[in-house]
Amino acid sequence: MVSFFFTFFSLFFLCIHVSSAADTISSDFTLSGDQTLVSSNETFEMGFFETGTSSNFYIGMWYKQLSQRTVVWVANRDKSVTDKNASVLKISDGNLVLLDGKNQTPVWSTGLNSTNTSSVLKAVLQDDGNLVLRDESGSVLWQSFDHPGNTWLPGVKIRLDKRTGKSQRLTSWKNDDDPSPGLFSLELDESTAYKILWNGTTQYWSSGPWNSQSRIFDSVPEMRLNYIYNFSFFTNATESYFTYTIYNHLNVSRFVMDVSGQIKQFNWLEANNLWNQFWSQPREQCQVYAYCGSFGICNEKSQPFCQCPRGFRPDSQKDWDLKDYSAGCVRNTELQCSRGDINQFLPLSNVKLPDNPDVVVITSLGNCASACQGNCSCKAYAHDQGSNRCSSWSKDVLNLQQLEEDNSEGNTLYLRLAASDMPSESSGKSNKLMIFGAVLGSLGAIALVLLVVILILRYRRRKRMGREKSDGTLSAFSYRELQNATKNFSEKLGGGGFGSVFKGALQDSSDIAVKRLEGISQGEKQFRTEVVTIGTIQHMNLVRLRGFCSEGNKKLLVYDYMPNGSLDSHLFIDQTEEKIVLGWKLRYQIALGTARGLAYLHDECRDCIIHCDIKPENILLDSQFGPKVADFGLAKLVGRDFSRVLTTMRGTRGYLAPEWISGVAITAKADVYSYGMMLFELVSGRRNTEQSENGKVRFFPSLAATVLTKDGDIRSLLDTRLDGEPVDVEELTRACKVACWCIQDEESHRPTMSQVVQILEGVLEVNPPPFPRSIQALVENDGSVVFFTESSSSSSHNSSQKQSHSSSSSSSKKTSTNNSSA
Ligand SMILES: *[C@@H]1O[C@H](CO)[C@@H](O)[C@H](O)[C@H]1NC(C)=O
Ligand SMILES: *[C@@H]1O[C@H](CO)[C@@H](O)[C@H](O)[C@H]1NC(C)=O
Ligand SMILES: *[C@@H]1O[C@H](CO)[C@@H](O)[C@H](O)[C@H]1NC(C)=O
Ligand SMILES: *[C@@H]1O[C@H](CO)[C@@H](O)[C@H](O)[C@H]1NC(C)=O
Ligand SMILES: *[C@@H]1O[C@H](CO)[C@@H](O)[C@H](O)[C@H]1NC(C)=O
Ligand SMILES: *[C@@H]1O[C@H](CO)[C@@H](O)[C@H](O)[C@H]1NC(C)=O
Ligand SMILES: *[C@@H]1O[C@H](CO)[C@@H](O)[C@H](O)[C@H]1NC(C)=O
Ligand SMILES: *[C@@H]1O[C@H](CO)[C@@H](O)[C@H](O)[C@H]1NC(C)=O
Ligand SMILES: *[C@@H]1O[C@H](CO)[C@@H](O)[C@H](O)[C@H]1NC(C)=O
Repeated sequence: MVSFFFTFFSLFFLCIHVSSAADTISSDFTLSGDQTLVSSNETFEMGFFETGTSSNFYIGMWYKQLSQRTVVWVANRDKSVTDKNASVLKISDGNLVLLDGKNQTPVWSTGLNSTNTSSVLKAVLQDDGNLVLRDESGSVLWQSFDHPGNTWLPGVKIRLDKRTGKSQRLTSWKNDDDPSPGLFSLELDESTAYKILWNGTTQYWSSGPWNSQSRIFDSVPEMRLNYIYNFSFFTNATESYFTYTIYNHLNVSRFVMDVSGQIKQFNWLEANNLWNQFWSQPREQCQVYAYCGSFGICNEKSQPFCQCPRGFRPDSQKDWDLKDYSAGCVRNTELQCSRGDINQFLPLSNVKLPDNPDVVVITSLGNCASACQGNCSCKAYAHDQGSNRCSSWSKDVLNLQQLEEDNSEGNTLYLRLAASDMPSESSGKSNKLMIFGAVLGSLGAIALVLLVVILILRYRRRKRMGREKSDGTLSAFSYRELQNATKNFSEKLGGGGFGSVFKGALQDSSDIAVKRLEGISQGEKQFRTEVVTIGTIQHMNLVRLRGFCSEGNKKLLVYDYMPNGSLDSHLFIDQTEEKIVLGWKLRYQIALGTARGLAYLHDECRDCIIHCDIKPENILLDSQFGPKVADFGLAKLVGRDFSRVLTTMRGTRGYLAPEWISGVAITAKADVYSYGMMLFELVSGRRNTEQSENGKVRFFPSLAATVLTKDGDIRSLLDTRLDGEPVDVEELTRACKVACWCIQDEESHRPTMSQVVQILEGVLEVNPPPFPRSIQALVENDGSVVFFTESSSSSSHNSSQKQSHSSSSSSSKKTSTNNSSA
């Protein structure tokens, strides 16, 4: 009876305990074992959690409602406790403290000066994820928001104290199992920019300063595309900080300084039960400083990103398994330099060279090699053929990166290795002998396999050698050669603003396209310089320049031949033509590839190259229908007359950004505009401007913008020839939205090409676009096509641009109003 009563009583007690989980630690309530604090709305929960397989316990905070435990804050980051039952989080001595074990040693504390704080304190876990310590009067003594770990929750301010010059830091975990501070941190600097640092010192990314006008950080233009957050930046004489809130309090989102060294932004997708990472910086893993540690090689294309070169192994395999590569690689065999020249050099080809060589001199490759060989402290050297620059490294080799074979930035690094670690023929032979002895029976099979392997290796090597020879170097052709190659310019592939293109074949029977340039006013030297510059630009989505010819005023360029011609020939086809209609997937791939090619031109070449003439005619398709942008760099080749060439060209006008006409400087955003126009054509399969049978001008971008802004049926925009075909509506929506953003009047409202790539890849979210202003004007003018009106600002461009244009290239309906005061 007594026992029954007792059980009942304790059950009753348990019920009470569960139904009203505490959100407060006070003198009456401490936290131990499996107990947790839960915020009043049950958003966050706090208690002991365990990481990895080791019994390391930490006091942490996580989202209560999410199925995946996601820790957002850790109290005792540096020091775990081993027994959660024996440890307790409590108010003690005017502080919130964590005491460990039987002898109750303090492990963590809020660290307030206790001599003058009252002991009647309360620590409350709030619904925003802030743990707040208050005194009797309710004033805040300490809050976890002022001591962030790796996670930046909405409402947290990452501050710079201007009086002391100290900044708060968001610091990565050491690895996924260890919350102790890692090497990567984010902080605010005096110039109002956030920067990411390695080991508290070396900066490898910056947000750029806060731009109070556009309310974004200068180097994070994608902030414009955000519609989830309310960002704000505060600054006065004593402090500055940046913070954000979420418009919709139902959205769960966080920024994390990740163990990868990237700052990442995640949204919780309830339907998919996962965190969706939709933004990160730096974009590429290999841009994170010293990510793979000393001698580690970073490779964007491999998993894991870090590898050790031959003759090296991870310094700590355990850390590598936890994705912490910072300790890098160590040698299998230590160098024994004193014993004479038994060390050799292993070439690593197509690598981005490590930072900070110790010595840079100008000398030949031979001298460079022997200088390093003769100096025991020299660990690696590299030689650049173009400049004869010889670099050598005697300390740690950091930031070594493996590039793709066709990357023009690639170089060869020669790495000193102990002779026994070098790949050698003799060891290969002895291996073969061993196999021979051991497995006599299966000799035939093995020999066959070996033979095949050797043959493949040989073939590969030969292939690579062949490629190396033709790579990088631009061939100079004589006019005669090209005349022969093109059978005296008999097979014309097309024409254009710069000259006609002819098909040809070289001696080695590879097909080429030869462009005979017209109207080049540049001198010989300048022409060659420009051509060489264009020749160094190589990307999967750019047509490769193979060579040129320059004899007097005969100027020709030689390109790879693209068997599938230009995009327009596949897109704008008559019903009568018996051509295959490009499917949706392929169109999306073409859009993405083109965007990548342009992003490369804009961002990754040494000088930003503005194409200036993006249109379907300039997108060529290779044998696999992979898109390649043609004619880049020609704007500069042709020089000043370019704008005239453009504006008088038929078919080009519809792709021209308004700034071409308004006379302001042309930036890469002009290409973005043209790309947007072209993207619409990819969607609709028709020219943007068309005259229908009843004489009315149909202007597709205005149609599309209407559908997009009025939530119309997005499928109605799609090429009718794709009816019944499988079409990813999500992709279609993305493509239309991004196209509409691209054709905004304000350059600053258009995304960059890299952002376009990210949006099409689905990495970046895209807002619903506003109605482009000039197209709005068009609609309001009830079809009278007035696109571009001249800006009154004085212009540095030549007068030929100073005119208003009708977009209607089919010009039968003359509706342009000319309000230029010519
Ligand atoms: C807590 O929940 C109530 C009702 O569900 C809601 O009105 C309130 O805004 C929530 N408070 C917070 C801080 O989320
Ligand atoms: C802590 O206590 C719980 C039950 O209260 C028990 O299941 C668990 O094994 C204990 N843990 C340790 C490490 O003693
Ligand atoms: C704590 O505060 C008292 C009085 O306010 C002061 O005398 C003492 O030096 C402080 N102790 C520390 C460690 O700052
Ligand atoms: C502690 O004492 C100092 C000086 O006596 C005072 O300035 C400070 O406000 C006190 N702190 C608290 C939390 O009461
Ligand atoms: C980071 O810097 C500290 C000195 O500030 C140094 O002792 C430590 O070795 C550095 N860590 C690495 C991984 O280089
Ligand atoms: C955005 O945040 C600022 C500062 O926190 C606030 O003043 C403003 O009202 C917020 N805007 C919206 C639309 O919520
Ligand atoms: C700056 O703002 C903070 C809080 O917003 C305030 O406490 C501080 O007094 C302000 N400093 C100045 C010089 O106005
Ligand atoms: C934000 O919340 C709204 C309403 O719950 C939802 O429709 C939307 O998908 C959420 N967005 C994100 C990014 O989670
Ligand atoms: C060897 O290289 C180190 C570091 O680059 C340099 O300081 C030293 O002078 C060199 N020694 C000789 C003999 O060249």
